[in-house]
Amino acid sequence: MDIRSQLGVYQQTVDSFLNQCIDKDSIDPPLQEAMLYSLFNGGKRVRPALIYIVNKMLGGTLEQANSSAAAIECIHSYSLVHDDLPAMDDDDLRRGKPTCHIAYDEPTAILVGDALQCLAFELIANDTNLNADTRIHLIKMLSKASGHQGMVVGQAFDLRNVGKPLTLEQLEAMHQHKTGALLKCAVLMGAVVSGNVTDEQLEHLELYAEAIGLAFQVQDDILDIEGDASVIGKPQGSDLEKDKPTYPALLGLEGAKLKLQQLHEQAIAALKSFGESADELKALADFIVQRDH
Ligand code: IPE
Ligand code: IPE
Ligand code: MG
Ligand code: MG
Ligand code: MG
Repeated sequence: MDIRSQLGVYQQTVDSFLNQCIDKDSIDPPLQEAMLYSLFNGGKRVRPALIYIVNKMLGGTLEQANSSAAAIECIHSYSLVHDDLPAMDDDDLRRGKPTCHIAYDEPTAILVGDALQCLAFELIANDTNLNADTRIHLIKMLSKASGHQGMVVGQAFDLRNVGKPLTLEQLEAMHQHKTGALLKCAVLMGAVVSGNVTDEQLEHLELYAEAIGLAFQVQDDILDIEGDASVIGKPQGSDLEKDKPTYPALLGLEGAKLKLQQLHEQAIAALKSFGESADELKALADFIVQRDH
């Protein structure tokens, strides 16, 4: 099965789990509607897929991975709702539909983000398929990767440096935090939920995760220039218009593509010791650098 169809399967798996977890008798139907609008709107579900793939590669069952997969997608979706707000990137299109603050309003979008973030941790805390120690471990990993030492600080750095020239080192650190941290966390959560990973395997997975985490944002930056809004599902040229610090802005389009290729090679090399069992992870690395949306 090719990786695109396989991604579709993971997408359905995590969506049906999320659907089943979200209480349908909300005390505030309008807030719930906006949450569902922002969560079930055709995201690629790359982070859940990473959790499922790593967990499967290490011999874990689907039940062990569902809550982490759903939780990381809640965090990611919240980050997108906030990222699009006028105070941040001020974008009006997301996943091919009006952004949350356009479809609803700004206060709703802020609260949707807040609620999705809480839901993420609730899903893991409530998962009786996992023992209490594993749940705490996962909550620690996800909170660190998404908070002030992870995605949030990357976003802060991004916004503070609009229009400013960054060094390559600064740009790399920014991308590693705003996007790399959550993708790396997905790979490592997949290993933790499997309950069956050696220190050596973890080291290799970490190298793979760091490479694809950065590559993901480099390709995102490239798509802002070369992508088609109807395919990427978000406004094309948004970074250029806002003078955002990006790889193409610093290295040029060709420089960014070269960097992407190097990161792809690093990711594949990190999986060597896993042999054929890592074929799906390799295919996902290929997808990340070749994707058109
Ligand atoms: C977009 O993420 C924002 C970044 C972190 C680069 P995705 O490309 O994973 O977005 P969806 O979830 O598929 O919409
Ligand atoms: C956002 O990066 C990363 C997040 C943490 C949400 P971008 O601002 O480039 O993401 P897009 O292009 O809007 O999806
Ligand atoms: Mg942004
Ligand atoms: Mg943005
Ligand atoms: Mg972008």
